[in-house]
Amino acid sequence: MKKSFGQKTIITPLPVLILATYDENGVPNAMNAAWGGQYDVNEIFVSLSRHKTTDNLLLKQAFTVSFATADTVIESDYFGIESGRKVNKIEAAGFTVTKSEVVDAPIIDQYPLTLECRVKELQDDTNGYILIGEVVNMTADESILTDGEVDLGKLKAICFDSSANKYRVIGEAVGDAFACGAALIKK
Ligand SMILES: Cc1cc2nc3c(=O)[nH]c(=O)nc-3n(C[C@H](O)[C@H](O)[C@H](O)COP(=O)(O)O)c2cc1C
Repeated sequence: MKKSFGQKTIITPLPVLILATYDENGVPNAMNAAWGGQYDVNEIFVSLSRHKTTDNLLLKQAFTVSFATADTVIESDYFGIESGRKVNKIEAAGFTVTKSEVVDAPIIDQYPLTLECRVKELQDDTNGYILIGEVVNMTADESILTDGEVDLGKLKAICFDSSANKYRVIGEAVGDAFACGAALIKK
């Protein structure tokens, strides 16, 4: 038996993306965004309302995206419930930044994995913006590498569970992509 819920949307996993930008005074800001994902090979998209972050995106045409982790869940949620219009959230969270070498945006030191992006499109619609970013570089802490490559098993990234308003850790690997299904291909 299945239960019908009418028009209700659950997509899982929703990422917990932390967008970091600079304002006109060089003050770094961070916001939490779950309505986004990969748009093309080296492009990402995020659906945004109007925020301090979108003001900064319009100004600097650059941002970074880091992945919230189990170890940073409190700070990452905080970045989604207070506005940088009122307070320097990065300072308030006790976090620090290093300026990206390739785009005019801050890399938040406490996140192990970060994409450095230039704004490709910032489409204004009545509710806000659709941001499309081109990834120009990626940086990762040594702590999440195995044999020199990013190992997501070490990242402890979290996703946003919109059905229960919880953050969940992204868990263990259960199969090899493009491979485990081959067991069902008829010879
Ligand atoms: C779990 C979570 C997910 C969120 N996802 C989005 C999102 O995808 N798009 C958006 O515009 N705001 C989203 N928000 C809200 C912003 O993060 C929030 O309004 C924030 O204060 C904006 O920061 P800023 O004003 O410093 O830019 C989310 C908040 C939380 C807690």
